[in-house]
Amino acid sequence: MMADSQSRQVVVSAQLLLLLLLGSCMVHEIEAVEYASQRVNDLETVVPPYLDSFGAPSAQVKVYYRTNSTVGKLKLGKLYDRNQTQAAPHVVIKGDAVQKNDFYTLLTVDPDARSPTNFTARNILHWMVTNIPGNIKSSQAITDVGDVIQPYAGPAPPIGTHRYIFLLFSQGYKKIEVPAPTSRALFSVRNFTTTYQLGWPLGGTLFRASFDDQ
Ligand SMILES: *[C@@H]1O[C@H](CO)[C@@H](O)[C@H](O)[C@H]1NC(C)=O
Ligand SMILES: *[C@@H]1O[C@H](CO)[C@@H](O)[C@H](O)[C@H]1NC(C)=O
Ligand SMILES: *[C@@H]1O[C@H](CO)[C@@H](O)[C@H](O)[C@H]1NC(C)=O
Ligand SMILES: *[C@@H]1O[C@H](CO)[C@@H](O)[C@H](O)[C@H]1NC(C)=O
Repeated sequence: MMADSQSRQVVVSAQLLLLLLLGSCMVHEIEAVEYASQRVNDLETVVPPYLDSFGAPSAQVKVYYRTNSTVGKLKLGKLYDRNQTQAAPHVVIKGDAVQKNDFYTLLTVDPDARSPTNFTARNILHWMVTNIPGNIKSSQAITDVGDVIQPYAGPAPPIGTHRYIFLLFSQGYKKIEVPAPTSRALFSVRNFTTTYQLGWPLGGTLFRASFDDQ
């Protein structure tokens, strides 16, 4: 009974957390959310302002890292060893919102740089792939069919535990030309989505990695 309600809370927390994090990434100048406070009560006080501005995810972003010799689907919010997430993952995008004739952008950002409590470098851009065609097959690599604007970089958090957030945006039917950023640091998701008229993310996922794991 106890365990049951606790595990339900964990599931609810994870869902709220995704929405919260997607929201906080869009309005990424807001205060960092203390990730450790996964208690539902805490989340309830933090989530509402951002839930309002972010609709339900309408596309799934499935991320697969090759760990040792096996390929595993990323579990939302899970803490991964840095050494298991250094190579670019395979990404599958799916869902009613993914249209065959449209193009998509995938971003991976770390909002917790340099540290979760002093995020002066927010965001670090870990990956940017634009012009991913909506008719991509799940076996195809986004980097083969899209344009890699910023190559994947694995987590290297200098302090604490950081979040690595994958966000998928629709470009509509247009291809976009994005110059390669001169730096990974101080990447503004909001400025980027405004500049290229990408709107809210269609979906996303995230994992965590810690300085302390090796
Ligand atoms: C990876 O390999 C190590 C050593 O062989 C093993 O202990 C560990 O459980 C493996 N991890 C996964 C995710 O398979
Ligand atoms: C936050 O980081 C900046 C530089 O990244 C540093 O100058 C500042 O002292 C730090 N603040 C705290 C409270 O650690
Ligand atoms: C937003 O992006 C444009 C170029 O895309 C850049 O010139 C401008 O400095 C950026 N603004 C901020 C606040 O990052
Ligand atoms: C990855 O790091 C973990 C501990 O952080 C260690 O147990 C494991 O052996 C490492 N795996 C590889 C392939 O280096």
